[in-house]
Amino acid sequence: MAHSFVTRKTIEDLRDWSDGATHGPGFTRSLGVVSLTALGIGAIIGVGIFVLTGAAAARYAGPAVVLSFALAGFACAVVALCYAELAALIPVSGSTYSYVYASLGEIFAWMIGWDLVLEYAMAAATVAVGWSGYLVSLLANIGLRLPPQFTAPPGAATAVAGVVGLVNVPAAAIVAVITGLLILGTRESSRVNNVMVGFKLAVVLVVIVAGGLHVAPAHWTPFIPPNAGEFGHFGFSGVLRGAAVVFFAYIGFDAVSTAAQEAHEPQRTVPIGLIASLAICTVLYIAVAAVLTGVVPYQLLNRPDPISAVIDVVGLPWLAIAVKIAIIAGLTTVILVLLFGQARILYAMAKDGFLPAFFARIHPRFHTPAGSQALIGLAVAVVAGLFPIDLLGELVSIGTLAAFALVCMAIIYLRRSHPDAHRPFRVPGSPALPVVGVFACLGLMAGLPWQTWARLVVWLVIGMTLYLTYGHRHARNGEKS
Ligand code: ALA
Repeated sequence: MAHSFVTRKTIEDLRDWSDGATHGPGFTRSLGVVSLTALGIGAIIGVGIFVLTGAAAARYAGPAVVLSFALAGFACAVVALCYAELAALIPVSGSTYSYVYASLGEIFAWMIGWDLVLEYAMAAATVAVGWSGYLVSLLANIGLRLPPQFTAPPGAATAVAGVVGLVNVPAAAIVAVITGLLILGTRESSRVNNVMVGFKLAVVLVVIVAGGLHVAPAHWTPFIPPNAGEFGHFGFSGVLRGAAVVFFAYIGFDAVSTAAQEAHEPQRTVPIGLIASLAICTVLYIAVAAVLTGVVPYQLLNRPDPISAVIDVVGLPWLAIAVKIAIIAGLTTVILVLLFGQARILYAMAKDGFLPAFFARIHPRFHTPAGSQALIGLAVAVVAGLFPIDLLGELVSIGTLAAFALVCMAIIYLRRSHPDAHRPFRVPGSPALPVVGVFACLGLMAGLPWQTWARLVVWLVIGMTLYLTYGHRHARNGEKS
């Protein structure tokens, strides 16, 4: 069928193939509201709160990192409402990619699919490296030392002077183990996720309560330290830069929408899962940020394990170990949900002919996209094992913000193009609120350094080249798969 760069998929087509109009084995519906909410929390609470908060307070915002969390949380809340409307309107596993295909057309859909690799696969690799760091530190606590050259990427400095890294084995290994679990089944993966999320939430609450008892309100003054003469270093611009940095902590709530084809009653349960997981995490984040800066002077928080700074003040040695174990469990679920979401997005893209059919094949026994999941696991394990990815976090954030802005635009478009479509959930105050969402995302993007923008442009240029040489020719617009 002839098609142009902006040919759109119809909502009806997208719904058709999600309703089981597929050939061969399909997904099974095994997830309810609790599991979906746990999936969201599983993806959300991770490196952002456990690692980045300290640097954001020490370098950019001071105690006003609380405001940074509130700002980023506000932007995400608007975006989550938009996701909820779209997930209820088009409950398919492609999520953002599918919504954009239905609204802005093929070329944008491809570009967003490519951009989402940053949010899912690259973020999973970033978090796997964080996981490795915490594991090494926990093992050191109990007197076990891994050979340092096998815990860092090639050429990187290690904790031992004169020894440089060869490969980050723990980072690659955790990706491999989680991939194995995801291949075996969504229900099994979700059960593991639910348990670990419970553990992670318990420890976050313990940190809030135990730390809360040691808050010295004097540490909150001045709440917004005066600007140090440069954009982004304290003052209001520092709050904005801080919001752009801690935005990483919110990434992942949208992964709930990639589970739409494996959820019971997705039009009801997915919007609830999206909004509930984000709301719970926003409240926890603001509380953790207030406790961190209330217990420890913000200048001392620039360390890879800021939560440990609070635990040191609380003075309970067993808590230090428990917190590290919980953080490792917490990071495990982030990797799990992001790898899960990546496979679902590639599944939807393959259904549309953008990728080889291999990515849309569901395993007859496990009912998961086993081959695709394995390939993604391999690629992410290689990146996690070999690349120094300090700066990747910001690249992940800018890529995700671009996707979020397009999701808000998709609402505005679809309200006009399909005013009468059945919408089990509606964003209040549309189009004003989605417009606010677009500007909120652009505002956060503005808070990121220009080098990050440059990297995003390079990534998108590679994506565009692939689209023109492969994607456009293979797109099967309007055809039912
Ligand atoms: N929000 C996730 C994290 O902070 C990606 O690790």
